[in-house]
Amino acid sequence: MTLGTRCANANHVFFIVFAIVCLCRDGITAARSLESGEQMIDWAMLLPDDQGKDVVLSSCTTCHGLDLIVTKQRSKESWLTVVGSMTGEYQADIPDKDVDVIVDYLGRYAGENNPVTAVPMDVNRASADALKRLRFLSGENIQDIVERRSKNEFRSIDELRQFLRLDQSKFDLATTYLQCGK
Ligand code: HEC
Repeated sequence: MTLGTRCANANHVFFIVFAIVCLCRDGITAARSLESGEQMIDWAMLLPDDQGKDVVLSSCTTCHGLDLIVTKQRSKESWLTVVGSMTGEYQADIPDKDVDVIVDYLGRYAGENNPVTAVPMDVNRASADALKRLRFLSGENIQDIVERRSKNEFRSIDELRQFLRLDQSKFDLATTYLQCGK
């Protein structure tokens, strides 16, 4: 065997070991997240379905997540500046006709009165308007939460589950999007 092939073989072995390590690590991570029932935050769910949402989703998610956007409180003017720096500084390819639509939508739902200031939301502090962004909660659920916490704050999301009689899938969502202000 020449030195060349030996090196090539060593490279192969290294690559295979590397691949196995990667596969195992991904497998373990996947298994872990399944175990805990944890879910990823779906930032798009937190934005109301209204005119312009589709344009925001297609224009503002190619370089970074919507997490940079959903919890912001910015005026329309300020959003116009942000979109300007995305197209200017970062060369985001956004046609002029879409800029107004995007700025309008963000001014409405990530504007100065945006009720969503943090996710997970504190179940004892988040406003009813913020809770409304969590689609898995019904209007009745939200009324019940607001009424109950004014007398007796929730001590855990499990207590919320019992109080609202949430099924497993809604409980999983509740643990992702809500916390008890600790
Ligand atoms: C071409 C890539 C690209 C696109 C498309 C893009 N951005 Fe960005 N954006 C960036 C980069 C790069 C940063 C700075 C790095 C970071 O904070 O992750 C950034 C940061 C931000 C920030 C945080 C900075 C701040 O001033 O608060 C906001 C908000 C933001 N982008 C909004 C948007 C919106 C709204 C859109 C859609 C109109 C958009 N981005 C589309 C590249 C892009």
